[in-house]
Amino acid sequence: MDMKMKQPSIAERMDRTGTETAFEVFAMAKEIEKTGAKVTHFEMGEPDFDTPENIKNAASKALSNGYTHYTAAPGLLELRQAIAEYVSEDVGVDINPEKEVMVMPGAKPGLFTGILATANAGDEVIMPNPAFPIYESVTNLVRAKPVPIPLKEENEFRLSPADVRKKVTKKTKLLILNTPHNPCGSSLMKNEMEEIAEIAEEHNLWVMSDEIYSKIIYEGQHYSMLSIPRMRERTIMIHGFSKTYAMTGWRLGYAIGDAKVIANMTRLQVNIASCAAAFSQIAGIEALRGPQDAVSMMAAEYRKRRDAIVRALNSIKGLTCKTPTGAFYVFPNIRKTGMKSKDLMLHLLNKAHVAVVHGTAFGKYGEGYLRFSYATSLDNIKVGMEKVKAAVEELV
Ligand SMILES: Cc1ncc(COP(=O)(O)O)c(C=O)c1O
Repeated sequence: MDMKMKQPSIAERMDRTGTETAFEVFAMAKEIEKTGAKVTHFEMGEPDFDTPENIKNAASKALSNGYTHYTAAPGLLELRQAIAEYVSEDVGVDINPEKEVMVMPGAKPGLFTGILATANAGDEVIMPNPAFPIYESVTNLVRAKPVPIPLKEENEFRLSPADVRKKVTKKTKLLILNTPHNPCGSSLMKNEMEEIAEIAEEHNLWVMSDEIYSKIIYEGQHYSMLSIPRMRERTIMIHGFSKTYAMTGWRLGYAIGDAKVIANMTRLQVNIASCAAAFSQIAGIEALRGPQDAVSMMAAEYRKRRDAIVRALNSIKGLTCKTPTGAFYVFPNIRKTGMKSKDLMLHLLNKAHVAVVHGTAFGKYGEGYLRFSYATSLDNIKVGMEKVKAAVEELV
């Protein structure tokens, strides 16, 4: 008998669990690069800048000083204090560092533990679509039901509170927001946040507000769900260091919420990760308390790149592109090419050696769009856009 043929089955819940396609496109691009071809990358959602020097130095010192062990599960108290002060100043509310803050290895574990701690099987979870794919994936994993709210280009890809209201039922338990938004680059306005808050209050819903791009904003001001005082008991704010401080590889994020939900999310964290890396946490204190000029320098650079990529995309026959107000993504409309977004993604990758993510990787309402991350140099944008122009214009 061939023993290799026998293998136990994988748990059925894995059939419900999605992934993040950017990593898959990146792997495909790497295969192409192995043949010696040069791929221009727009697929990964991460800053191309290096982590600021003062933050790296703080981590080196932390390693020498013995920050090489476990920390408390919700994070080092000093980091939680720094987070509470930083966020309090930003949103104008008091935050208790001992009970209302959890530090995690990235923002993603906050999404995972937040959804697990609040949504039961059968509950409905309202979320924008297209959106960061992890919201839908984890909702499906816990057998709750994702209820998508289409983001419409004619509404500048902003979540419409009226559309949210229409979708609330007795089963709705959680509402997920993301502003500024991945993949659309849109940001919610103060009146929209307030209207969404009203709906959440009226129907007694949890709100998970993913504000990880709040420091990368080009028009107006970021408005946090936490700044609406009566929302404190029902809001889980997700944030982190990955985007603001170019620290994606450090795996450091945080959640802010009411003491009960944070305690339960921490219980889940003990089951998954124990805590974030100790030396990353020390670096996080320096990031928040040290000079902030690198943050504004990076945002100013992203703005120049945004302007360049929007201009270039709009000059390509068959594409149109709105100007995003935050984050570092553009979401051009590709309908005039006559191709499905996944097919055009593959065409650009294989023919033009340009890596992007198809809109449907972020949900079904992403059909007709592609996502380009412009967290890359102006030179790369120029080269990439020339390649995209040639490959798209041969189709139209
Ligand atoms: C909207 C959104 N939330 C959360 C994350 C996850 O961030 P982190 O790398 O800190 O886990 C990302 C990363 O791309 C994101 O775009």
